[in-house]
Amino acid sequence: MHEVAQSPWVAFAYLVAGVCFILALRGLSHPATSRRGNRLGMAGMAIAVVTTLVTHVPVIVDVLPPGAVGLDDWAKPRVDWVPVVEILAAIALGAVIGLTTARRIAMTAMPQLVAAFHSLVGLAAVLVGVAAFLNPAAFGIADIVTPMIGQPFAVIHQVSRIELILGVAIGAITFSGSVIAFLKLNSTMSGSPILLPQRHAINLGMALAIAFFAYGFYATQSPLDFWLVTAFAFIIGFLLIVPIGGADMPVVVSMLNSYSGWAAAAMGFTLGNTAMIVTGALVGSSGAILSYIMCRAMNRSFISVIAGGFGAVAGGGAGGEAIDRPWKRGSAEDAAFLMKEAGQVVIVPGYGMAVAQAQHVLREMADKLKEHGVRVKYAIHPVAGRMPGHMNVLLAEANVPYDDVFELEDINADFAQTDVAFVIGANDVTNPAAKTDKSSPIYGMPVLDVEKAGTVLFIKRSMGGVGYAGVDNELFYRDNTMMLLADAKKMVEEIVKALG
Ligand code: TAP
Repeated sequence: MHEVAQSPWVAFAYLVAGVCFILALRGLSHPATSRRGNRLGMAGMAIAVVTTLVTHVPVIVDVLPPGAVGLDDWAKPRVDWVPVVEILAAIALGAVIGLTTARRIAMTAMPQLVAAFHSLVGLAAVLVGVAAFLNPAAFGIADIVTPMIGQPFAVIHQVSRIELILGVAIGAITFSGSVIAFLKLNSTMSGSPILLPQRHAINLGMALAIAFFAYGFYATQSPLDFWLVTAFAFIIGFLLIVPIGGADMPVVVSMLNSYSGWAAAAMGFTLGNTAMIVTGALVGSSGAILSYIMCRAMNRSFISVIAGGFGAVAGGGAGGEAIDRPWKRGSAEDAAFLMKEAGQVVIVPGYGMAVAQAQHVLREMADKLKEHGVRVKYAIHPVAGRMPGHMNVLLAEANVPYDDVFELEDINADFAQTDVAFVIGANDVTNPAAKTDKSSPIYGMPVLDVEKAGTVLFIKRSMGGVGYAGVDNELFYRDNTMMLLADAKKMVEEIVKALG
């Protein structure tokens, strides 16, 4: 198997696949190029899969003839195409499931879908590891030793033992961690942190046990050590994610994405597959970078996310109570009048826009305002919505021109020169408590300075509803704020009508 992988054509094909993956990541960094990036990623994966199939399948069969009993049988060359049929059937089945899921999934459910898919990557790494452990000669990672007395046995190369145990451990953590992340994001399990007593001591003990048994496997190839590492890794994945609250879950998903990449890379070494090593490393490092960017945007330290507990206040609680203070309610007509008269309107979309699927009618509203000579811009907070790039994807889907879309650091200075800030289903990302209230769970998170605009219009369904962090927003009660209470799509449809 390893010999075939070294053929120059195979190396070249994998190199092309690797370049496609790198260009895919580059393309995905901007909405304008993301479709091309996606296609390049698919092309890279197709090249990698076909190359692996064409070059490896007969060899796998060569080394592993069905019904092999003795050492002599192992050496018998044999080409049997049955596994190819099975592999193609599995690919077809996977493609159908993937395609149907991707078509059906609502944009708001994307984070849990990603978590579910990561769990499969983790499980795949564990299964490949177990297969390689049970039959190392078939994977070319062992020498067959024939003792004077007794049956021949396989001695796994020492470096392969490291790759194997690392891949299995990371894969198992990724699997159980992603399952918990899925259950929390899907609200099948409470999003609140479940804080076990002595959890840090338990986790530390578990991590030390994994390290101890992993060393045991490296030194002796002991099956007991292998299975203990696998079992403990499954348990620690569960224990690590259970205490983390819903608000931090997307960071966790991106971290698990990174883990799944490293698990795949480790398995790439076991399988002698360069494409898998490269892809795993790309996924591993890009996931780690994304986790870091998200932590920075939420002003959370990565360690504190992993340690868990932040989400204790998420999704409701005392902060969720609406403050009993006067506030102004406006109608669609009021909003239309204010915006028609404005020189500049900055639209701030948030999670509520995604829930209402109001992006298309929002673009219609912006077009109408432009017809009235109003300058329209969109302000995107890096963690608006529930996943990275959530708002960008929705606006791109509605064909909002990319030139109208600005990131937080590029737009914040503009609010002081803006007549109307039009906040549609966003709450936390506009909350000034992040700048002033040290006791607030979002304290320190950079926010959009919407309050600096002449008038702030807020669309939300009720005064009682809160954002993800579960805290009220003092801006709702300010003199220059007008609340537009309705479903975002309905309200914007009415504004469009009123704009004439
Ligand atoms: P949120 O603070 O969650 O606020 C959403 C707002 O939308 C609420 O005011 C809600 O009020 C309103 N809303 C919900 N459904 C609506 C509908 N159908 N029509 C009109 N309004 C509706 O959203 P945000 O400002 O986008 O902030 C995102 C939050 O999620 C931040 O705390 C962020 O840290 C967190 N988070 C984001 C990410 C990523 S990567 N994006 C990851 C993890 C956590 P009503 O219920 O009253 O309507």
